[in-house]
Amino acid sequence: MSKQVILTGIRANNDLTIGNYFGAIMPTIDMAATRADEFQVNLFVPDLHSFTTPIDHTKLHDQIWHNIRVFAAAGLPLDKPDIHIYRQSYIPAHSEMTWILDCFTGMGEMARMTQFKDKSGAATSDDEQSSSQDRVSVGLFNYPVLMAADILLYGATYVPVGDDQSQHLEFTRDIAERLNAKFGELFTVPKPVQEQHAFFGKDQGLRIKDLQDPTKKMSKSDDTGNGVIFLGDTPETAAKKIMSATTDSVGKVAYDPDKQPGVANLLQILALFSHRDLQEVIGEWEGKTMYGDLKKAVADACSQFLTTFQAKLASVDDNLLQAKLEASEAAMREQAGRTLLTVQQAVGLRPKGQ
Ligand code: TYM
Repeated sequence: MSKQVILTGIRANNDLTIGNYFGAIMPTIDMAATRADEFQVNLFVPDLHSFTTPIDHTKLHDQIWHNIRVFAAAGLPLDKPDIHIYRQSYIPAHSEMTWILDCFTGMGEMARMTQFKDKSGAATSDDEQSSSQDRVSVGLFNYPVLMAADILLYGATYVPVGDDQSQHLEFTRDIAERLNAKFGELFTVPKPVQEQHAFFGKDQGLRIKDLQDPTKKMSKSDDTGNGVIFLGDTPETAAKKIMSATTDSVGKVAYDPDKQPGVANLLQILALFSHRDLQEVIGEWEGKTMYGDLKKAVADACSQFLTTFQAKLASVDDNLLQAKLEASEAAMREQAGRTLLTVQQAVGLRPKGQ
C-alpha cells in the first residue's frame, strides 16, 4: 500500500513571516524529520498562487528560490526519498486539474470564501486607479480550486495550514466528495479540519496575530510590516517591533485572546520561539503586571531564533537543493499525471483503461 501523504504549500509573494513558519512549515518539517518512513511529505511553492493579488513580478523568481532555501534551512531532510520539494508551475497537471474542478464548482461557493471577501476588498481599495471590482482577478476568485487541485493530485490526507486556510481545506473535501459521488472513488478525501489538528497535536489551527493590531492575522502582505516579524528581519528590528507591540490597559498578564489579544499573542509567540508548551508559558507569566518584562522575554527568544535560523539559511547548499528540486519535480509530474489521467478518463476526456 502506498504511504499516506502530508502536504503543504507556502506562497512566494513576499518574505515569509513567523506565522508561515510556525503555522505551516514547521508542522510539515517535524513530520518529515520524525515520520518519513510512514509518510510521503510534500512541501511546495504554489508559485501560480503568488499573483492572485498584484505583486512585483521582477522579484517573484528570487522569492521562489528564497522560499525553497527557507525549507532547507528550517530542517527539511533532503536526503530522504519520500520527502519532496517542488514548484507548482513545473507540474502542469495543477493547472489542468484546476480547469476540470472549476467546472464542478459553484460561483456562490467561491464568492462565500472569507479570504476572497477580505482580499477582493483590499485589492481594490489600495488601487486609486480603480474603484470597481474589475481589478479583482478571476485568479483570486478561484484560488481555492487551484489549492484543491494541489492537494487532490497527490491524494494528501493531512494538510498542515494556519487557521485562515481551514475554509479552503473544507472546500477541498467538498469538491473531492462531490466528484467521488458522481464518478466513483477518484480522490482521497483529506481528513476533516479537527482531525488534522489532532494529528498535529493541537486543538485548533494556529493564528499568530499582527503585533500592532492583534485583532488581525500577522500577514506577509501587510502594508507597513510594523506588526509583522519576517524571517529576514534583523534580530534588532524584530526586537523593536516586539517592544512596541500593542497590549492593553488591563495591566495584568492573562491568556484571554478575546479581551487581551495582544498579550495572548505574545504568550503564544514566546511558547513557539522557546519550544515550550503554551500552558507552561501561561503558568509562568499569569498574574504578572510588567508587560515590558514579557515583551523583553519575547524579544530575546525571537532574537535567538532569528540569529540561529539566518545562519542556517546562509549556509544552504544551492547545488544540493537544485538537484533535489529536479528529482522531486520529475517524480511529482509522474504522480500528479497519474491522478490527472484517472480524472480525465472519468470525465470522458480520455478513453478508459489507457
Ligand atoms: P500563504 O503563503 O498565504 O500562507 C502559508 C501558510 O502559512 C499560514 N499562515 C499562518 N499561520 C498562523 N498564523 C499566521 N499569522 C499565519 N499567516 C499565514 C497559512 O495558513 C498557510 O498555511 N493557500 C495557501 C497556500 C497553498 C496551499 C496549497 C496550502 C496553495 N496551495 C495546498 C496547502 C495546500 C496559503 O495561504 O499560503
